[in-house]
Amino acid sequence: MIHVRALILLSLALILYGLSPQAAAQTRVSLADPRIQEGLSKLPKRTIAISNDPIYEGAQRYEGYDLKAFLTWLSRYTSIPLRTASITFIASDGYWSERALKDLPDRPAVLAFRHLGDPPTKPFRDAIQGNRTFNPGPYVLVWEGAYRDSDHLPIPWSITEVILQRERIPEPLLPPGRDPKTLRGLELWRLNCSRCHSINKFGGSVGPELNVPLNVTEYWSRDRLVQLIENPASLRWNSKMPSFSWMPQGDREAILRYLETMREAKICSSESACLRP
Ligand code: HEC
Repeated sequence: MIHVRALILLSLALILYGLSPQAAAQTRVSLADPRIQEGLSKLPKRTIAISNDPIYEGAQRYEGYDLKAFLTWLSRYTSIPLRTASITFIASDGYWSERALKDLPDRPAVLAFRHLGDPPTKPFRDAIQGNRTFNPGPYVLVWEGAYRDSDHLPIPWSITEVILQRERIPEPLLPPGRDPKTLRGLELWRLNCSRCHSINKFGGSVGPELNVPLNVTEYWSRDRLVQLIENPASLRWNSKMPSFSWMPQGDREAILRYLETMREAKICSSESACLRP
């Protein structure tokens, strides 16, 4: 009898556990979602000036939601504490911009919804880069002051979605056993590659996924990979991938080692399994 009662209690506990809202590892939100819009509309707005704007060039001013207030609101909305989180801004053209919250500079910033000087009917006028015309809206991340390359500031535009991730290193990118030897490669991957490429479906979609179902080191030779990262144009005419010849050779090798390690940490290993969300 006692056993039966214990069993009933145990199953009850399991059911309740299953029903309770589980803290998600990550939450992805569309900024166009009416519930998100409602939250955004209550945030403090501010104006930010930048002296070397990468979009319209020169000195520009933007109006937007205070970044700290936005992150605090997002943390409450998703129940993900900011202290250990990482944030990803996703652009409509497939670029991802991802950082651990603790690595974001302590500098005024806004999630801008308007470039000052443009008419209210068109919050961002079109911009030109090379021979390409694009519109930076609906949202741009703008930092106060001047940008230097060494700041590694995330400066995404055309932002349509954000992901708040519970861990400083997004789980899909973690090497097996969190092997510290590959952490350098992982950091370099996050800073240089993940804006265009995904691993385990986490990262930009400007270039191809490099881990699932087949890892790129399973079908490319090491020599060719080294050559590609150093100078993509030496393999492919009109490659959309930038050259990384400026990067110390040791760093490029660290990235390759990281890629090789991720073979053992696939989230799916067949076409059909990878199709599932
Ligand atoms: C600006 C976007 C961009 C960045 C940044 C970028 N890539 Fe690429 N990469 C591409 C595109 C696009 C392709 C597809 C082919 C092409 O256009 O050359 C590609 C192709 C590749 C391929 C070949 C994959 C295959 O199966 O054909 C590898 C490997 C690769 N990239 C590795 C890297 C690594 C490592 C980094 C960081 C050091 C990196 N890429 C940074 C855009 C990018």
